[in-house]
Amino acid sequence: MKLEGNVAIVTGGAKAIGLHIASKLASEGAHVVIADIDAAAAEEAAVGITRAYGREAAGMGVDVTDERQVEALIAFAVERFGTVTILVNNAGIMGPVDETDKVDVDGWDVTMAVNLRGVFLSSKHVIPVMKQRKAGSIINVASITGKRPLPLRLAYATSKMGVIGLGRSLAAEVGKFGIRVNTVCPGSVTGERQQHVFEGIMKASGKSYEEVATEKAEVTALKTFVDPDYIAHCVVYLCSDESWVITGQDINICGGAVMY
Ligand SMILES: NC(=O)c1ccc[n+]([C@@H]2O[C@H](COP(=O)([O-])OP(=O)(O)OC[C@H]3O[C@@H](n4cnc5c(N)ncnc54)[C@H](O)[C@@H]3O)[C@@H](O)[C@H]2O)c1
Repeated sequence: MKLEGNVAIVTGGAKAIGLHIASKLASEGAHVVIADIDAAAAEEAAVGITRAYGREAAGMGVDVTDERQVEALIAFAVERFGTVTILVNNAGIMGPVDETDKVDVDGWDVTMAVNLRGVFLSSKHVIPVMKQRKAGSIINVASITGKRPLPLRLAYATSKMGVIGLGRSLAAEVGKFGIRVNTVCPGSVTGERQQHVFEGIMKASGKSYEEVATEKAEVTALKTFVDPDYIAHCVVYLCSDESWVITGQDINICGGAVMY
């Protein structure tokens, strides 16, 4: 097991990509705290992980945009498991899907708050714990939309570009304390959110599901979508000693849709 002795927090870990990441971290020996705005789902996920992997996990209702709640999360993890060695900033929302002149400011603000402020707050409050141990790994979940333009998704694209910038700047700042910061940039991931996105495109374009799916897969080198397990594998690697010299990187997990 690659992560024996580690304690990980996964934000937005109650379902979908976050749950895959939390499960994989536990399967590699880490204790996991699932922090999600959906408290019941977080607790349910923690019970499932403890049962499946025999590693005690905990769930907590946390809104990553609220500084007090984030502080309480870090304190809870330290009290329960002794420390925090891994933070996965996965919580994120799609934000408004519309022409920019029709996007209301609340839609913009909430997207920035969850996708960017949440990453800042969780990182801010975990760093003192990691500094004490002179070790730690922070993984941010951005998107390939943080690298290339996406019309009608201005807030989301801008927030994910911000996450990539945050990751690089933070990596440069905290490397001297033995803390590494990396960002993963998934492409189109199979799951519920992908269904919502495809349904939106079908409605707007009148195309069938098959046409939309084929068009989306066609732009990747491997003609494929991303299974969330591949993201989880990459996160495990980025948290393990095998990647000790890797920091400040943003890694595309997208079947070759983006290559920079
Ligand atoms: N699904 C994709 O195709 C895709 C592609 C690229 C990047 N991503 C990114 O991956 C991450 C996970 O995406 P997903 O598809 O699993 O999303 P999802 O919507 O299925 O799950 C997100 C989780 O975050 C939680 N959450 C939302 N707001 C929160 C808040 N304020 N505080 C705490 N938790 C909150 C939700 O309850 C949910 O459990 C996001 O950052 C997303 O932008 C997803």
